[in-house]
Amino acid sequence: MSRTARRIILLGPPGAGKGTQAERLARRLHVPHVSTGELFRQHVGGHTPLGQEAEASMRRGDLVPDAVTLGMVAERLAEPDAVEGAVFDGFPRTTAQAEALDQLLADRGQRLEVAVLLEAPREELVERLTGRRLCGACQATYHVRWSPPAVPGRCDRCGGALMARPDDEEATVVRRLEVYDTETRPLVAYYAASDRLLTVDGLGSVGDVAARLEEVLAPHD
Ligand code: AP5
Repeated sequence: MSRTARRIILLGPPGAGKGTQAERLARRLHVPHVSTGELFRQHVGGHTPLGQEAEASMRRGDLVPDAVTLGMVAERLAEPDAVEGAVFDGFPRTTAQAEALDQLLADRGQRLEVAVLLEAPREELVERLTGRRLCGACQATYHVRWSPPAVPGRCDRCGGALMARPDDEEATVVRRLEVYDTETRPLVAYYAASDRLLTVDGLGSVGDVAARLEEVLAPHD
């Protein structure tokens, strides 16, 4: 890349740290963080028709149907803040979604520049997810062991109550990892084939991983 990429996918299994890193990266690049999981959770929380369609799949650890997901993403990308770029987290997740995103961007004269694969061993993924806690009010993310709040059960940012995500229960985590292997892992080959794939080791502290990400995304000739 000869200039800083501004349309970036963070790809990787549940728990790899996509959300944690995407938030930081989007802030650094001044582009929105587009997390389809987060958008779905907002719809579920708001009891919208889309949320009702998505909720059962999410609780099982399955993917929400492509048509529902793609409609939601197209709407999000039509918002003014997404004109200059976006960091995608948890999207695309199927080959059909990846092809549709390429088409959607091409229709606007834009291009997905790079997909960064974040990797971590399976035991680490399971431990990260089963120990994750979210603030019900502001969605800040914690981990009971690695990034605990100052006051147990309370958000450092807003004081809201912390809770586990319903799909972070161990049996559902196992299902989500299976779904990743069958549905999403093929995207690694999809982006490698068009020379848009970079890989970053997701093990280590959040700061270490962020530094690796910054390094692979740095412009070079
Ligand atoms: P989504 O919310 O996208 O979940 P996911 O992809 O399974 O990813 P996670 O959010 O669980 O993990 P992450 O990689 O973001 O890790 P995080 O940074 O949070 O999707 C949820 C559901 O929505 C899906 O199952 C599906 O049903 C549906 N859905 C979403 N997108 C869809 C799509 N495109 N198509 C169809 N359906 C879709 O970190 C995890 C934990 O680890 C945290 O506690 C964090 O504090 C900790 N942590 C992070 N980094 C580190 C580190 N370096 N060291 C130690 N701990 C760390």
